[in-house]
Formats: sequence, C-alpha cells, structure tokens
Amino acid sequence: MNYKIGDILFTREQISTRVIELSQEIRKDFIEFHTGQELLMVGILKGSAIFIADLVRALGQDIDVRLDFMVISSYGSDTKSSGVVRIIKDLDAYIENKNVIIVEDIIDTGLTMSYLLSILQRRAPSSLKVCSLLNKEERRKVPVFVDYCGFEIPDKFVVGYGLDYSGKWRHLPDICVAEPV
Ligand code: IMP
Repeated sequence: MNYKIGDILFTREQISTRVIELSQEIRKDFIEFHTGQELLMVGILKGSAIFIADLVRALGQDIDVRLDFMVISSYGSDTKSSGVVRIIKDLDAYIENKNVIIVEDIIDTGLTMSYLLSILQRRAPSSLKVCSLLNKEERRKVPVFVDYCGFEIPDKFVVGYGLDYSGKWRHLPDICVAEPV
C-alpha cells in the first residue's frame, strides 16, 4: 500500500509545549528520588532522534544527564511491527546501578518495548523507566507501563518529528497522519 502525508495530528507548537512539560516531569521526579545521581537517557534510533534532542535540552544543567543510543530493527512490514527485534547497535554504557530512561517515538503493540525492557532489566539498572512521545494504547498486544507519555493517539499511522513511513518523512516538523492512496 502507498501512503501520502495527510492531516496534521499535532502541530510543532503543540509538540514543543508537550515535550517541555514531559522534560519537567522527568526533572521533578529525578530531583525528588535520585538527587545527586546520574540519569542515562537512552534514545531508540532512529525514531526518537528528534524527540530526545528536544527532551534532554529542557532537563536543566543541574542534573547529571548522559546520553546513549540503541539502534534496533523490528522485522515486519512498513507499518506493522512483528515484535521480533534485532539489536543493530547496543548501548555503549554499562547500566548496572544506573538510572535509565528509555526514550521511544511511539508504542504501538508494545512488543518492541516489552522486549527492550526485558533485555535491559537483566543488566540490573537501579531504575528503568519508559518515556514515549506517542502511545497507541488501543493497539496493545502486551502490557507496557509508560512512565512518561507525550500524547495518546488513535489507531492511525503517523509520520513526522522522527517517525517514518518506509524511511520517509522523519524530517517533518509536525506529526501528521499517513493516509493510504
Ligand atoms: P510496537 O512493537 O508495535 O509497539 O511498535 C513500535 C515501533 O513501530 C515504533 O518504534 C515505530 O518504529 C513503529 N511504529 C508503530 N506505529 C507507528 C506509526 O504510527 N508511525 C511510525 N512508526 C510506527
């Protein structure tokens, strides 16, 4: 099936406001529970690249923030993940006894995040949380608790602000619905 860029679901202004709010939530919790410790923000590439760049810059200079990235590919079609995940690039950092927040673009069936959580949990981090810009709760196949969620969205395929269709449209500043043509 082919897709075209459809209606805007969230404008760049809405995204910017919400990302700053999320960052402030993370900041508040971190100061309350982990003052003086290190916070490792783990971006899942490529979808979270733009989101994590904006998110971390609003955290503030008084928190000891580190960045790391994983590259994963999930087997499936262009618009459906199969839940079978291959790690193409693992973390550089050891996460044992670290406070880790996984930063994702979207949680759909939950299969990818559930797999990631299970492998990272085995590395014994001190805390492990999930921050996702978008969440399609109604599509869940496995339960995933999202500690920090930008927007709940309906069952539509969306692109922009890092999210792609077949590698395209990650660069769009707004989040748009991809419509079948
Ligand atoms: P899950 O394993 O079904 O939760 O799928 C998660 C991954 O599927 C995300 O990290 C995205 O790469 C991709 N994905 C799911 N829904 C969308 C969408 O609406 N737009 C773009 N990518 C999506």
